[in-house]
Amino acid sequence: MLIDTHAHLNDEQFIEDQEAVIERAQAAGLQYIINVGFNHETIPTTLELAERYDFIYAAVGWHPQDAKDMNPEDLQWIEELTHHPKVVAIGEIGLDYYWDTSPREVQQEVFRQQIRLARKVKMPIIIHNRDAHEDLLTILREEHAEEVGGIMHCFSGSWELAQECLNLNFYLSFGGPVTFKNAKRPKEVATQVPLDRLLIETDCPYLTPTPFRGKRNESAYVQYVAEAIAELRQLPVEELGQITSENAKRLLGLP
Ligand code: NI
Repeated sequence: MLIDTHAHLNDEQFIEDQEAVIERAQAAGLQYIINVGFNHETIPTTLELAERYDFIYAAVGWHPQDAKDMNPEDLQWIEELTHHPKVVAIGEIGLDYYWDTSPREVQQEVFRQQIRLARKVKMPIIIHNRDAHEDLLTILREEHAEEVGGIMHCFSGSWELAQECLNLNFYLSFGGPVTFKNAKRPKEVATQVPLDRLLIETDCPYLTPTPFRGKRNESAYVQYVAEAIAELRQLPVEELGQITSENAKRLLGLP
């Protein structure tokens, strides 16, 4: 039984066959999927999915790329949604200095506001970090994110950064890149992270694992991520699946 801790099944790439994709995930033995809504458009459709399917839960938050669109009312909206029975985390939130689609000061402020909200409602956060390691750590520390902890989504940093995140009570989640032949760093970190802080995800429709790299990703493919890490850790894949699922349930309070 596996848990995909990060999916975007409401993405437009799934418009044609969303139901079939979700059925395949169930057939593949996924116990839960956390679908992530991160702006005006994707938060409502994420909640719809979580309300329609027992095994789909939701994370809601404001993505750094959309930070410039977040109004004070939206922060209030997210706070209200944290009381929704299927919402288990605030995310994805963080910093994206690669695309830079929102000014960095705006990204930082929106990130800080949501960490404060998470502490207020005592809910873990899901972090998106692209090319912003230093500022990310500074803000996590200054805002005392360790009080709630959460998930470093699709972790791709160094072992040094991983240790900083572990010290701040974060779990590291790995996706498709850990299956890529040349992905030395994710493989190294996935081999070293303490087993009780390890999670798996797809980030579908993006970051498709080998052997489907280049095609659309879907939640059922989280099994390839599990297999790759099980091989690195020299564990039976069933055991790796059980450990990562227990971690996700503990962190997110899943039944
Ligand atoms: Ni995502």
